[in-house]
Amino acid sequence: MSIIILGIESSCDDTSAAVIRDGIILSNILADQKIHAKFGGVVPELASRAHQQNIIPVIDHALQLANINKKQLNAIAYTQGPGLLGSLLVGSSFAKAFALALGIPLIAVHHLQAHVFANFIRDKDETSAIPSFPFLCLLISGGHTQIIIVKNHTEFEIIGQSIDDAAGEAFDKAAKILGLPYPGGPFIDQHAKKGNTKTFIFPRPQIPNLDFSFSGLKTSFLYLIRDKLKENKNFISENIDDLCASYQSAIIEILISKIKNASTQTGIKEIAIAGGVSVNSALRERLSVEMEKTNCTLYIPKAEYCTDNAAMIAMAGYFKFLKKDFSEQESVPFSKNR
Ligand code: KG4
Ligand code: ZN
Repeated sequence: MSIIILGIESSCDDTSAAVIRDGIILSNILADQKIHAKFGGVVPELASRAHQQNIIPVIDHALQLANINKKQLNAIAYTQGPGLLGSLLVGSSFAKAFALALGIPLIAVHHLQAHVFANFIRDKDETSAIPSFPFLCLLISGGHTQIIIVKNHTEFEIIGQSIDDAAGEAFDKAAKILGLPYPGGPFIDQHAKKGNTKTFIFPRPQIPNLDFSFSGLKTSFLYLIRDKLKENKNFISENIDDLCASYQSAIIEILISKIKNASTQTGIKEIAIAGGVSVNSALRERLSVEMEKTNCTLYIPKAEYCTDNAAMIAMAGYFKFLKKDFSEQESVPFSKNR
């Protein structure tokens, strides 16, 4: 018998639903919320309302595209946290009600673990390799920057993390300083393609072990812009490509040096990346080159499975289903990482 699971993601500003059959993704639908762009960041109250409007059409669409009737579903997996509580409540309440109505199990999924499981996602007829345990995952999103030893489907050990801003925040805050829209990572990525990485030099933080820090880098970027604007009010527009390339290159260098150290320290040569920042084109290229030099095998999920999406929730849900790791109706969302 096939195992068919509906995954629901609503942790931040993307409402997403996906259907997975026997570990293969059949559909992955996403409604992003344009409303936040003009505020320069996600407005929690507006996000919850938009989830409420989007959730039924998005789930309906995901089931239709997968050609699956709701009566065929074996379980509902949903994001329990971390995330914005009001946003999580929309997805979790829907998931609970739907599971109860259909008389099928409910599966609560940890959002960050789901990002890692994006590396296991396979579309129909796709046969590319998946990481073997134990592997290292560089998880770089808008809210988190971590190096994780993934020991098996349920055991994760965080061996390094940011002591201040996440890598995604470093991108988004610099983009805001430059007057680029939110979220800024993709815009910096595009401008950087046309720029010189060596025009501006930013200090590299000296953080011990495998931890990260990005706030000093962001501050030096802010001061550079502030000082240069005093001399030339067109400084940003005249230098935007080089600014993006130089700043992005500093972030990439920090990320790559830490994951290389983690591989040396642990002896693990299976390396995966996950989270929205792993969409970054220069990071993907540089990391591929560096991992080849060090005889590591690199796993990079498709871009649509790196940023927030329900396919990764469905994938994580599938692994939990196989272990019969189900949740009670009393389970509640959590906002902070745990
Ligand atoms: O994983 P994600 O979609 O949401 C969280 O769980 O946080 O990550 C969003 C982050 C944002 O900070 C966004 O700017 C960044 O991922 N991002 C990128 C790129 N695409 C998305 N950063 C750099 N380059 C990109 N191409
Ligand atoms: Zn995320």
